[in-house]
Amino acid sequence: MTRAQAVIDLGAVAHNLAILRKVAPHSQLLAVVKADAYGHGLVPVAKAARAAGADWVGVALLREAVELREAGDVGPLLAWLWAPGDPDLVACISADVQISVSSMWSLIEVTEAAAQANSIAHIHLKLDTGLSRNGADIDEWEELVVAAKALQTRGRIDVVGIWSHLANASHENDPSVAAQRARFLEGVAVAKASGIQPQLLHLANSGGALAYPDTQFDLVRVGIAMYGVAPMDPNSAQRFGLKAAMSLHAKLALVKTIPAGQAVSYSGTWTAEAPTRVGLVPVGYADGIPRAAIGAQVLVNGVQCAVLGRVAMDQFVIELPEAVGEVSAGDDIVIFGDASAGAPTADDWGNASNTIGYEIVTRIGNRIPRVYQGNS
Ligand SMILES: Cc1ncc(COP(=O)(O)O)c(C=O)c1O
Repeated sequence: MTRAQAVIDLGAVAHNLAILRKVAPHSQLLAVVKADAYGHGLVPVAKAARAAGADWVGVALLREAVELREAGDVGPLLAWLWAPGDPDLVACISADVQISVSSMWSLIEVTEAAAQANSIAHIHLKLDTGLSRNGADIDEWEELVVAAKALQTRGRIDVVGIWSHLANASHENDPSVAAQRARFLEGVAVAKASGIQPQLLHLANSGGALAYPDTQFDLVRVGIAMYGVAPMDPNSAQRFGLKAAMSLHAKLALVKTIPAGQAVSYSGTWTAEAPTRVGLVPVGYADGIPRAAIGAQVLVNGVQCAVLGRVAMDQFVIELPEAVGEVSAGDDIVIFGDASAGAPTADDWGNASNTIGYEIVTRIGNRIPRVYQGNS
C-alpha cells in the first residue's frame, strides 16, 4: 500500500450471497453490480457473484452491461436505466443483455434496436407501484402491455419479466411494502389478461428479500446485502450475519502532538483542550470521505480513534490517545471495514455524515486502488 487502498473481500461477497440464497431459497438471485459494484469493482464482483452461484447479474446503465460483456461476462444480465437514443442499446441486444422497458418510447426503441441487431430483445416491463421513480404509471400500464404483446407477436421482442422496485424495504414492518406488492400483482394480472406470460416476476431488493419474504417472487435483486453493508437499520448487516466486503485502509502520513488551545483543520471546528497526539490520514473528500462527517472514527492498533475537525480534500486528522500505544508515520489504519474486526463500518461513517452506508462505499473514488482477496 502506498497511501491508501480498498481491500475487497470476494469471499465476503460469496458468504453474503450464500446467506441470501438461504433466505430466499425459491427465488433466483440477481447480483446488483451497478455503479462499479457499489464502488467494489464491476468486473471482479460480477465474476465472483457468478462463481458464487448468482443466477443473474444486474446493472443500471447499458454502458455497464456492455463493459461486462466486453470483459467476458456471460449469463443472464439485466440493465434497467436508459434514456432515449442510448448508443449502447443495439450492442446490448446483440450481446443478449435483457433490457427494462418502462414506457412507450422505450418499447419502440428496443423493438427498433432488435431489428437493427437482427435479433430479439428480451425485456422486463417495469411498473411503478409506489416509488414514483422509474416504471410505467398504473394509468399507462395497460396501453404498454397491450403494445408489448402486439410487438411480441411480431417476433422482435420477448417479455421475459414484469418487475417493480420497493420504496421502503429498508424499514421494518412498513405498510407501503404490502401496498406495493398488491399493486404489483394487479399490474401482473392486467399483463396476463392481455396475453403476456412472464417467466419472471421480481420486486424485492436486499431489504425485501431479507425482511419481507412475500416480496421474493421468482427473483430477488440484491445489492447492498451482498456487499455486507446494512440493508436496513445500521446494525442489520451484523444481525443477518453479513460480512463487509470493503475495508478502506490508509497509511498514517504524520504523527505529532499539538498544544492545548490549538484548533485542527479548516475553520477550527475542534480545539485541543490539552496537548494531544494526532495522526494525519492522507485521504479526503476527493477520495469519497464525506466532509460532512461529525464524530466518525477510524481503527488504529485495535482502538477506535476520533476524527478531529473537518475532513479536507485530501486528508483528515485523527486523535491518537494513549490506548493506541506506539504509533508512527507509515503505520496502517482502517478507516472502515468489518465490525467483527473492531473497525467502524461504512454504516457508522454514514451515520456520522447524515447519509447511508450505500453512499459511503459507492463514492470511494478511483484515486484509491482496489485490492482483491478471497476466491472468486
Ligand atoms: C432497481 C433496483 N433493484 C435492486 C437494487 C438493489 O437494492 P439493494 O442494494 O437495496 O439491495 C437497486 C439499487 O438501488 C435498484 O435500483
